[in-house]
Amino acid sequence: MIQTIAIGCDHAGFIYKDAIAARLKERGIQVLNFGADSAESVDYPDFAHPVADAVEHGKAQMGIVLCGTGNGVAMTANKHQGIRAALCWTEEVARLVRQHNDANVLAIPARFVSEALALAMVDIFLDTPFEGGRHERRVRKI
Ligand code: RB5
Repeated sequence: MIQTIAIGCDHAGFIYKDAIAARLKERGIQVLNFGADSAESVDYPDFAHPVADAVEHGKAQMGIVLCGTGNGVAMTANKHQGIRAALCWTEEVARLVRQHNDANVLAIPARFVSEALALAMVDIFLDTPFEGGRHERRVRKI
């Protein structure tokens, strides 16, 4: 049961952050917001590191990070031990990264997906369980 999700973004990801936070709250999930809180230009690692840190240290069960392409925040989050940040651009990818990779951070490319798709990917990411089995062995090898 997911109780807390950490969220962070840069200026490019900021456009969807409030909508995503509202969706999480509707679902009864507590949101740890690490900013950014405006469209003013900032450096994405300053916001992705705190999200990854919160998941790494158990303050949140999962994280959501956003930037223009989703890559900068994913690269940053994946520097943390135990973080499996997945760049997602379709609903199917969001489902597969949970089923096969047990991803614990969703990275959204805000400049390349619609708000509706971003929200749909959030729902799928949260609702899809890890399949385990052969995937467990592979994830352990990461
Ligand atoms: C900001 O212009 C952009 O570089 C950033 O949001 C992101 O796409 C980096 O990976």
